[in-house]
Amino acid sequence: MQPLLFFASVLPTALAKVYTNPLQLPYRQYDFVVVGAGPGGSVVANRLSAEASNTVLLIEAGPTDDVLPIVHIPFLCTTLAPDTAVTWNYTTVPLPGLNNRSIPYPRGRVLGGSSSINYMAWTRGPQSDFDRYAAVASDPGWSWNAVRSLAKSIEGMVPPADGHNTSGQILPSIHGTRGPVKFSVQGYPSELDSRIFATTEELPEFPYNEDQNSGNPLGIGWGQYAIAGGTRTSAATAYLAPILSRPNLDILVNTQVTKIVQTGSESGVPIFRGVQFAASPTSEVHELHVMREVIVSAGAVNTPQLLMLSGIGPATHLKTLGIEPVVDLPDVGQNLQDHPLMPNVFAVNSTSTWDNLARNASLSTADLAQWEANRTGLFTSSPSLEMGWLRLPSNATIFQTEADPSSGPHSPHYEFFFAETFLSYVMPAPATGNYMLVASNVITPTSRGSITLASKNPFDPPVIDPALLNSAFDIFAVREAMKAVRRFVAAAAWKGYVISQVEALNEATTDEELETYARNNAGTVFHPVGTAKMAPRDSEDGVVNPDLTVKKTMGLRVVDASIFPFIPGAHPQFQVYLVAERASQLILTGS
Ligand SMILES: Cc1cc2nc3c(=O)[nH]c(=O)nc-3n(C[C@H](O)[C@H](O)[C@H](O)COP(=O)(O)OP(=O)(O)OC[C@H]3O[C@@H](n4cnc5c(N)ncnc54)[C@H](O)[C@@H]3O)c2cc1C
Ligand SMILES: *[C@@H]1O[C@H](CO)[C@@H](O)[C@H](O)[C@H]1NC(C)=O
Ligand SMILES: *[C@@H]1O[C@H](CO)[C@@H](O)[C@H](O)[C@H]1NC(C)=O
Ligand SMILES: *[C@@H]1O[C@H](CO)[C@@H](O)[C@H](O)[C@H]1NC(C)=O
Ligand SMILES: *[C@@H]1O[C@H](CO)[C@@H](O)[C@H](O)[C@H]1NC(C)=O
Ligand SMILES: *[C@@H]1O[C@H](CO)[C@@H](O)[C@H](O)[C@H]1NC(C)=O
Ligand SMILES: *[C@@H]1O[C@H](CO)[C@@H](O)[C@H](O)[C@H]1NC(C)=O
Ligand SMILES: *[C@@H]1O[C@H](CO)[C@@H](O)[C@H](O)[C@H]1NC(C)=O
Repeated sequence: MQPLLFFASVLPTALAKVYTNPLQLPYRQYDFVVVGAGPGGSVVANRLSAEASNTVLLIEAGPTDDVLPIVHIPFLCTTLAPDTAVTWNYTTVPLPGLNNRSIPYPRGRVLGGSSSINYMAWTRGPQSDFDRYAAVASDPGWSWNAVRSLAKSIEGMVPPADGHNTSGQILPSIHGTRGPVKFSVQGYPSELDSRIFATTEELPEFPYNEDQNSGNPLGIGWGQYAIAGGTRTSAATAYLAPILSRPNLDILVNTQVTKIVQTGSESGVPIFRGVQFAASPTSEVHELHVMREVIVSAGAVNTPQLLMLSGIGPATHLKTLGIEPVVDLPDVGQNLQDHPLMPNVFAVNSTSTWDNLARNASLSTADLAQWEANRTGLFTSSPSLEMGWLRLPSNATIFQTEADPSSGPHSPHYEFFFAETFLSYVMPAPATGNYMLVASNVITPTSRGSITLASKNPFDPPVIDPALLNSAFDIFAVREAMKAVRRFVAAAAWKGYVISQVEALNEATTDEELETYARNNAGTVFHPVGTAKMAPRDSEDGVVNPDLTVKKTMGLRVVDASIFPFIPGAHPQFQVYLVAERASQLILTGS
């Protein structure tokens, strides 16, 4: 839909402890500095400052989350990127897997980080993901059994915005109700709902799952979203807004950390207990030291960038840019994984899909007015609806030549999500007609991309190569997922509603045609992870130890989406909150 440039009346977060200029900082030294205020950094800043004896400074490159009121309006999330006051307006390199298309690659640049611009899907993923993290890191502390109580403590389940009876749509017993991340079952009815669930009764291939967050996500179910009272829950609303009065926490916004500084060494191991930061490329650079730790939570794109700018990374790459390597860690920036998003669009027999909103301003004005009046209506909802988590059959031909990349038998290879709208990255939205989107996204990609530096200037964007659809498995999976979408909408439940599949895909039938279509049309679900991956303490591989300390350094940890050795089989924000909760415990207990 078109960007809607209006200002809604959202109450700004109280800003008592938020400084906008480095010169305003009351102290020159803290126990901890946390870099970046996404789900990783916001949790750590909150949990560390819960102990009154710790002084904590959280530095965020972007502004506070009241600069764009639409941050708080769930349905308008798609208008927050790629190029707004709350984003890093990044673009990928030409991607061979996408026929050399470069695609927008925005990240949140605001308090809350990408959780302030994301689509709010709240998905825990398969429990075997955590068991695999425990296995590859040689640390049982990451296993599902070890972290499951943390999962519940993060969550604050609330009723959906429309107040409907959610019995049978979620299993309340497995969720927390008192935690900071307020979430709910999708809260506005869609004309797709009844057809989606009728299909689960008709086709055994697509079973109903009463709660996809049980540890076994497989099947089709109601979406759960980080939305409460009709507004977005972000890391900033959940973990920062409630603690702004803590005297031992300072938050500095509009300020970019440009380097982590070596402050000494112990037994030949470099100590990194300093940061440099600046408000802009032309403003003064400030430096500040910590007593205990620097925690880097700048996200899977900016964390490796900042490490490399600080001399921590692949030594040969750093030298070519004129950066003196301090710690040779070849895996910094490598192992980038992301979920390719494959739109499948169908013309539908309807007059009321969301397509109309972008065409008729008075409709969206009415929805906005309703949201403002009492936080009800369509705008309380994410523009994505139900989700499905599905596996390739075990006899799929790809498994004759490739190992199964999923973490276990309840771990999905691909995802469906539904929306009442046209979506294409290459075709303009049609002026007429009504549409349905069934995205079919690869969830266990075997492609591996990278983040590298373009220069040693911290204000230059890094080189981003998510390597989408760059492996035989990924192409196989995206094709099979597209075929599964066709089987889904061929169910009797869609008779008289689905008219036809839109244009090119309609004609693509052979595997070769489907592959060509996928390469020409896929995008990203915006889930980069893995660029500072965790590996066993005694291993030369990886960037961080199982306690998330950076290998071959002292005083430095990474706590964000960079640390995953494998991409979660889910939308990853829940997993990042969980990683940050456990990391906070590790820091506080000193283990
Ligand atoms: C458009 C979009 C839609 C998404 N939809 C979903 C979804 O529906 N469900 C889901 O689970 N996940 C979704 N995600 C992914 C999810 O939001 C991320 O996985 C999650 O936010 C990652 O958390 P993080 O803390 O690692 O990084 P981020 O949330 O990206 O936070 C990093 C923060 O660090 C700051 N920073 C970076 N560099 C510096 C620096 N040098 N100095 C100071 N600050 C710095 C950034 O400005 C940012 O605020 C989506 C992401 C996007 C972009
Ligand atoms: C955002 O990125 C796009 C694509 O590279 C570019 O055309 C545009 O100018 C950028 N916007 C800003 C404000 O730099
Ligand atoms: C993509 O670019 C590379 C390098 O320029 C080139 O070798 C390749 O043929 C291109 N692929 C397509 C499909 O255009
Ligand atoms: C919700 O629906 C269930 C099942 O139909 C029913 O047992 C329950 O009483 C309902 N709850 C409310 C509050 O109406
Ligand atoms: C736009 O929506 C309004 C409100 O529902 C309706 O009255 C009007 O006829 C619509 N305009 C067009 C061109 O469809
Ligand atoms: C909310 O406001 C809309 C009009 O803006 C109204 O139609 C609706 O009944 C109100 N809902 C509640 C629950 O007050
Ligand atoms: C896999 O098994 C199913 C059911 O047994 C069968 O219908 C299908 O043809 C098999 N597929 C392949 C590729 O062997
Ligand atoms: C569209 O739906 C109506 C009923 O809502 C039905 O009468 C009509 O035949 C349908 N049209 C098509 C093309 O399926």
